[in-house]
Amino acid sequence: MAVPSLTLHDQTTIPQFGIGVWQVPPTDSERVVSEALELGYRHVDTAQMYGNEAGVGAAISASGLARDDVYVTTKLNNSFHEPAKARESLKRSLDELGLDQVDLFLIHWPLPTRYGGDFTATWAALIELREAGLTRSIGVSNFQPAHLDTIVQATGVVPVVNQIELHPYFDNPARPATLEHGALVQAWSPLGQGGGELTDPVITALADKHGKTPAQVVLRWHLDRGDIVFPKSTHRERLAENIDVFDFTLSDDEVTSLNALDKGEAGRTGPNPDTFDWIPN
Ligand SMILES: NC(=O)c1ccc[n+]([C@@H]2O[C@H](COP(=O)([O-])OP(=O)(O)OC[C@H]3O[C@@H](n4cnc5c(N)ncnc54)[C@H](OP(=O)(O)O)[C@@H]3O)[C@@H](O)[C@H]2O)c1
Repeated sequence: MAVPSLTLHDQTTIPQFGIGVWQVPPTDSERVVSEALELGYRHVDTAQMYGNEAGVGAAISASGLARDDVYVTTKLNNSFHEPAKARESLKRSLDELGLDQVDLFLIHWPLPTRYGGDFTATWAALIELREAGLTRSIGVSNFQPAHLDTIVQATGVVPVVNQIELHPYFDNPARPATLEHGALVQAWSPLGQGGGELTDPVITALADKHGKTPAQVVLRWHLDRGDIVFPKSTHRERLAENIDVFDFTLSDDEVTSLNALDKGEAGRTGPNPDTFDWIPN
């Protein structure tokens, strides 16, 4: 069954499901993305900081698919938040990807304790990059509710998405604030990085009931809540398993039972965006 597309508030569309390539080694990214495209994936989430944009671009080029048929997201490197550097950085990503334009460009982290806390200037730079045609849409990642309020109040431009850590053990509190702004939520680490969630008895029981795997139940939960997901795997059989989630749905009660697995802040696996300040050399 086909992957549904969602309409973003700028009236562009995005496949609700794709592949993420964080931690896919640069030497393996062409193979992994090629296999995903063969299996029907049409959406790739990469980032300059992942170091594997060239392999992603090579896979898309080798696939023979029309450019419009593959949705490509990349993200601003934490080292390049100053407006002039943001433009340079996106141009470098486009060179690596072998593309004239990405579909979506995100501020990867708000870095509120760097750059004088001025992520608004960075957001204004992304608005210009969209106007210059280097990206079709612009969004953010790891923005807390206060960060979203700040950029929207200052510029009047709402990001089309906020990409945030989100999985059953961590129902990120930035999710409702994102939706209230009219942006869609992209759930990163949707499988909790293949950790504890996949052996949780609530999830394994639902997997048994539906004749699906725990990973498929977790992905279905995200999709049934209306969020966008791009689970990562370097294994073809898991890539096939992860996209095989469009022949069943969870009931409202089942979604509610998974919502109840949230552990709050204790469920967060990644850094807290309020304090995260890492930049590559
Ligand atoms: N914006 C951000 O700051 C940010 C941060 C993190 C992630 N992301 C994005 O979100 C994407 C997904 O997140 P993620 O890579 O952190 O984690 P994830 O997709 O939740 O989980 C990936 C892990 O789960 C394993 N896995 C995949 N499919 C599986 C299955 N069906 N059954 C069991 N295990 C499975 C993978 O192992 P194998 O590869 O060995 O199969 C890998 O170790 C990233 O690739 C990236 O694009 C963004």
